[in-house]
Amino acid sequence: MKLLVFGGGGQVGHELQRTLKPLGEVVALDQQDADLTNLENLRTVLYAQSPGVIVNAAAYTAVDKAESEPALAQTINADAVRVMADYARYNGSLLVHYSTDYVFDGEKQGAYLENDLANPLSVYGKTKRAGEEAVQDAGCHYFIFRTSWVYSAHGANFIKTILRLAKERDDLNIVSDQIGAPTSAELIADITALAILAWQADILPEGVYHLTASGETSWHGLASYVLDRAIAKGMKLNLDSSKIRPIPTEDYPLPAKRPKNSLLDNGKLTGHLGFQMPDWKIHTERVIDQLLHQEMK
Ligand SMILES: NC(=O)c1ccc[n+]([C@@H]2O[C@H](COP(=O)([O-])OP(=O)(O)OC[C@H]3O[C@@H](n4cnc5c(N)ncnc54)[C@H](OP(=O)(O)O)[C@@H]3O)[C@@H](O)[C@H]2O)c1
Repeated sequence: MKLLVFGGGGQVGHELQRTLKPLGEVVALDQQDADLTNLENLRTVLYAQSPGVIVNAAAYTAVDKAESEPALAQTINADAVRVMADYARYNGSLLVHYSTDYVFDGEKQGAYLENDLANPLSVYGKTKRAGEEAVQDAGCHYFIFRTSWVYSAHGANFIKTILRLAKERDDLNIVSDQIGAPTSAELIADITALAILAWQADILPEGVYHLTASGETSWHGLASYVLDRAIAKGMKLNLDSSKIRPIPTEDYPLPAKRPKNSLLDNGKLTGHLGFQMPDWKIHTERVIDQLLHQEMK
C-alpha cells in the first residue's frame, strides 16, 4: 500500500514519516514537491502517485497572518483539501486530514464533543472548518482528527519560543485565561498510524475525531511547567516560573481572536481504540529531553 503524505516538512508530517513506515511505502512531499496553491499540479501529483492512503499534514498555520491573507489560507486549508477529497472518492483512497480546536468559539463550559456546533472566530479557524466540510461533502473514506496546541522538537511552536525567550529575557507575560491540551506531533503521528490499521481491521469507523493529550492547562501553565522542568534537567535559562506573570488575553492583543476554551473531548477515539490518551506532561517532558539532547550535540 502506498501512503502519500502532504506537509512532510511540518511538525506532524515529520513524525508521520517514522510512524507510517511499517504500514507500506511512504511518499512524503513538502511544499517544493507539491505546492498546494497550485491545484492543477496537486491533481497531477495525486493521479501520478495513486495512493491508497492520503495523509494531509500540510496547512496554512500562521494564525495571525491569515487575517491579512484570507484567500491564501482558504486555498491551502480548504480548496486543496477539496481536490484531495475528490481524488480520494474517485480512487477509493482513505483521506486522513487534520483540523483544529480553532473551529470552535471557546464559549462552551467543558470539553468540546465532535458534533458540537463549530463557530470559528478567526480566518484560520474558518478556513480549517471549510476544509472539514470539503472532506465531509466529497463522499470519500476519511478521518478528520481535530487536535490542539501542537508542539515537537522539530519545527516552530510555543514550547521552543518560550525556551528561546527564557534565554533572552528577564521576565515574561503569558496569557493565563485560555485553556487547552498541549499535544505532541509524535502522539498525533502514533495515533494516526494506529487509526489507519484500525480502519483496515474494521475496528475504527470513519469520521471526525478529537485527538489530543489528556489533562488541561493554560499557556501560562504550560510555560511555567516547561521552564521549571528544563531548569531541573540542566538547561541554562534566565527565567524560572516565578518570573512569568499571568495576564488576561485582553492584555496581549493579537490580530486573530482565539477561543478561551480549547478543550476537546477525546472519548470517542479512545472508546473505539480501547485506551486512554497520555497526560500532556508526558510528551512535553520528552520534547524537553529531545531539545536538551540537541543542545548538547
Ligand atoms: N500547530 C498547531 O498548534 C495546531 C493546532 C491544531 C491543529 N493543527 C493542525 O495540525 C496539522 C499539522 O500542523 P503542524 O503543526 O504540523 O503544522 P506546521 O508545522 O506549520 O506544518 C505545516 C506544513 O504545511 C506546509 N505548507 C504550508 N503551505 C503549503 C503549501 N502552499 N503547499 C504545500 N505545503 C504547504 C508547510 O511547509 P513549509 O514548512 O515549507 O511552509 C509545513 O510543512 C494542520 O492541519 C494544522 O492545521 C495544528
